[in-house]
Amino acid sequence: MSSAAEHKITVSLTRTIVLVGLMGAGKTSVGKRLASFLHVPFHDSDQEVEAAADLSVREIFERYGEAEFRSGETRVVQRLLNGPPGVLATGGGAFLSEATRAAIAAQGVSVWINASIDTLWHRVKDKPTRPLLQQPEPREVLERLLEDRRHIYAQADVEVLSESGLSHDVMVRRILEAIRTFDLARPDSPAVLQRDLV
Ligand code: S3P
Repeated sequence: MSSAAEHKITVSLTRTIVLVGLMGAGKTSVGKRLASFLHVPFHDSDQEVEAAADLSVREIFERYGEAEFRSGETRVVQRLLNGPPGVLATGGGAFLSEATRAAIAAQGVSVWINASIDTLWHRVKDKPTRPLLQQPEPREVLERLLEDRRHIYAQADVEVLSESGLSHDVMVRRILEAIRTFDLARPDSPAVLQRDLV
């Protein structure tokens, strides 16, 4: 018989874990930690769009407008879903596209990182990188975005709450537990495979 110390669990992915939710939810920072825990690639759709355009998100909005950014974002998400399973942090607007939601439903597992407006605001308020918040009353803008989008984010396969002060490791655990519960409901196509090595 093996002791508890010898009992190892390996976890592997069959689908990309796609993190969705509003700016400030922690998709990028938690996503990086999740990918490193799972030993899978991490991608961030904003960074991929920026690399393809050789411009920052803010510059793309300023020079070409939001519609152009959205079409690049849609292409990037589709390309990454076609690649090996990993963790993908999406920009806060990516999941609004019906085509993108359908692609994620077919090829990934979506996780809404939900957070209160206070938590989100606290995390974004001093960062000038979000073009949608570069206007008067940015907190009200953020609040409106959350209210307008909440019902769309709620279409994600699972929802995980991010409270301020929670460590990334706790968030990783919450995400994996939520996906595990979701997988139990569709055992023919689980996103995360867990094997006990004894
Ligand atoms: C946006 C969110 C941003 C970025 C762009 C638009 C949005 O990404 O894609 O500024 O529409 O909510 P983050 O959610 O990573 O900040």
